[in-house]
Amino acid sequence: MKVLVYTFGCQMNKLDSELVLSALRGAGYTVTDRLEEADVVLFNTCSVREHAEERVYSRLGALKRLKQNKPELLIGVLGCMAQKDGAEILRRAPHVDLVCGTRMFPRIADLLDRSAKLRGPVLALEDDVNVSYHRVPRDRPNRFQAYVSVMRGCDNFCSYCVVPYVRGREVSRPFAVIVDEVRRLVDDGCVEVTLLGQNVNSYGKSLDGNADLPGLVGKLQEIEGLHRIRFITSHPKDITRKILEAMRDSSKVCEYLHMPAQSGSDDILGAMRRGYTAARYRELVATAREMVPGVAISSDFIVGFPGETEADFERTVELARDCRFQNSFVFKYSPRRGTHAAQLADDVPREEKRRRNNVLLREQEKISFESHRQYLGRTVEVLVEGPSKKDSNMLVGRLRTNHIVHFPGSQEERGRLREVCVTECTPLTLLGELVETRTDAVRVSAGKPESGGDI
Ligand code: 5AD
Ligand code: SF4
Repeated sequence: MKVLVYTFGCQMNKLDSELVLSALRGAGYTVTDRLEEADVVLFNTCSVREHAEERVYSRLGALKRLKQNKPELLIGVLGCMAQKDGAEILRRAPHVDLVCGTRMFPRIADLLDRSAKLRGPVLALEDDVNVSYHRVPRDRPNRFQAYVSVMRGCDNFCSYCVVPYVRGREVSRPFAVIVDEVRRLVDDGCVEVTLLGQNVNSYGKSLDGNADLPGLVGKLQEIEGLHRIRFITSHPKDITRKILEAMRDSSKVCEYLHMPAQSGSDDILGAMRRGYTAARYRELVATAREMVPGVAISSDFIVGFPGETEADFERTVELARDCRFQNSFVFKYSPRRGTHAAQLADDVPREEKRRRNNVLLREQEKISFESHRQYLGRTVEVLVEGPSKKDSNMLVGRLRTNHIVHFPGSQEERGRLREVCVTECTPLTLLGELVETRTDAVRVSAGKPESGGDI
């Protein structure tokens, strides 16, 4: 049996898709990326905005014909949309065979079996189970990088957000389980881990004892062979000095904070129930920059939240300007049924949301370009990720600060940590050249001692 997975949404979904594929491989499936040869097609879905859901329904619609010609084809909807809409998905897309919620994916193989035997749809939406899965370290797209979930769910209930409803309350994974998982990944060649959680700063709150994020990264720092530790996402209200100290003092923790501001207006931040003011956010950015030299900070923003006036929006643009984010993801507000904000009138017209979205993006582009220019002429450590999508002679790598750099080089460099000198930049990316390392230089000169030794 061949399985194809389409993944929508965030990094957590990417990791869940990897785990689903791993579980299915273990059950004898093979993975394909060709729809024509798939026996099972799964959609791992996102509910954060309506647009993401509409894309899934439209893809599902496109599969109707295929299923008519190939009735044994199994179609599954997994993740947030499955949890949120449940049986409604079967009403809108009756050719779907499996609806599998956010906490049921480790049982995917059994659920698909059941659906094949029943020859009818299966709904698996239990929400009181703790997700535990067996991870096969080898089963991941990149040998040298891995996502590691440190917690699931969210307790914050920001007024616009559906995540606490579909992913459930915050549950941290046990400290020892995470450390063991990372050790096994590193034994298998992983040099960079990204710890994932909706709000990694509150890691440990749901556990007995005093586990926390600084303690966790401190422990991971000791793992030999691991070179980089990242964590996303950081909620501004839960950033502590201890977390920033860990970033400053643990050599493996990368100088990168994804710390969504969402808005620069106190009225809107209040209505969003974010738990901080714009002044407090600015203060945090200043503290982070003071404590962690060179830290790159990125943000998410929502434009067109109910009641957002032009003056509120201006404050958001100002905040983006003042904080000089490395990067910002900008989203148009999308009302989500069941959330608190859904009771408020969605009163910013669609056109206006679009305009604000574009204005903020353009502003961010200028800021990114300026911050990229500061890298010109600098030599930086890069983890080589692979060939550039646009030009296969070019490689793509990531700085510790999460900036992306393109440079010429051979595919053998993939997965290596190298030094790159930045020579050019655009608003979106850096361009550079590999710097020959000292070891290479020694190797070159070792064969020709008469030419003058070391360079
Ligand atoms: N509408 C628009 N954007 C949203 N986000 C979360 N919920 C919504 C919504 N209802 C954005 C936030 C969050 C990011 C992952 O998605 O900016 O940080
Ligand atoms: Fe949603 Fe807020 Fe939780 Fe982020 S912190 S997942 S925006 S409720």
